[in-house]
Amino acid sequence: MLRGLFVLACASVGIAGITVDPYALGTPGPVPYPKSNPYTVAKAELGRRLFEERALSKTRQTPCTWCHNEPAGFSDGRTVNIGDTKEALNRHSPTLIGAGYQPQLFWDGRVKTLEEQVLMPIEHPKEMNLGLADLPDRLRKAKYEGLFEQAFGSKEITKERVAMALATYVRTITENETPFDKYVKGDKAALSPLAIQGLAIFKGKGQCITCHSGPHFTRATIPGADPFAKTGLAPSYVIGEDHGRGDVTKNPKDNDFWRIPSLRGIGRTAPYMHNGTLESLADVVEFYDRGGDEGALPKLKLTKQEKAALVEFLESGITGQ
Ligand code: HEC
Ligand code: HEC
Repeated sequence: MLRGLFVLACASVGIAGITVDPYALGTPGPVPYPKSNPYTVAKAELGRRLFEERALSKTRQTPCTWCHNEPAGFSDGRTVNIGDTKEALNRHSPTLIGAGYQPQLFWDGRVKTLEEQVLMPIEHPKEMNLGLADLPDRLRKAKYEGLFEQAFGSKEITKERVAMALATYVRTITENETPFDKYVKGDKAALSPLAIQGLAIFKGKGQCITCHSGPHFTRATIPGADPFAKTGLAPSYVIGEDHGRGDVTKNPKDNDFWRIPSLRGIGRTAPYMHNGTLESLADVVEFYDRGGDEGALPKLKLTKQEKAALVEFLESGITGQ
């Protein structure tokens, strides 16, 4: 099950004579922007406005922020949310923190670029339910031509431009200045003694680092590493069966594998997992302590005190204030 262990053991790469371990925990570098859609202030600002824009949903009740809002760590605090048609979705809304670093998007990694991804919720019948052909007209009526002109040099509103602006905004959503980041830069008082113990458990007895490695606490952002893993989480099948990666590859061996999520900002994004069935970080730690579900992972045998330390590290250590 621990498909990452082998790669973890031989993960050092040399860059200009310096050995950099891409699996090491630490502070991420700048968000990569594609050459075809570089960052500009005007584009990011347009993207932010579109992200909050109710006119992007058919009934005008379901902006992106309905499922990805800042106080909930760009998730929504619900097990699964309902979309524009008031039907329940079958997956929990993931945080967007650090999504700009992810080479594969969604819980099952089925999409590769944000430019492609951001139009999908707009069209999705259960999310925002708006035909993309209606987009330009909706936005012209909502007086967006000026903002498009500032961002792109002309008033023309197209779905490609909407995608470029939304993707640019999503790339600005990061949480790279947590107490843990201050701690690794030398401010040893940034983490409490309990959180420091939790970090040691994260890397040691808790075995979290096997999958949640690298600057985003997931090997999914590390080139060449396997982004997917299976924790055996008991399916809730809120709406129909859902086998994660296996449904994408159509290979039963990939059933119930999910992209390993980033843990930055995790203190604000409860509930947890692709189906939102674990309500708190204490529940998550209990889940791993018993070896996940279906015996997918080794049992950890953490003491009560060690569990508290691990929760403290996740909750206060890698979540910004
Ligand atoms: C009704 C709820 C809902 C709305 C509205 C919504 N999303 Fe999402 N979003 C989700 C869910 C659920 C997923 C995960 C789906 C999956 O994995 O199959 C998701 C996934 C994503 C991801 C992938 C994150 C990652 O790390 O893989 C991005 C990016 C995203 N949404 C951006 C947006 C944008 C931009 C909008 C508005 C245009 C939007 N979402 C509107 C529920 C919503
Ligand atoms: C074998 C790989 C693996 C190991 C080991 C592992 N995780 Fe995970 N983790 C995952 C995967 C995959 C998911 C997503 C599972 C899902 O959604 O069904 C996940 C999800 C999570 C989440 C929820 C993230 C969210 O946004 O909902 C947290 C928190 C978490 N893990 C913390 C930990 C901690 C703490 C440990 C160590 C005790 C640990 N993980 C060990 C692979 C792993």
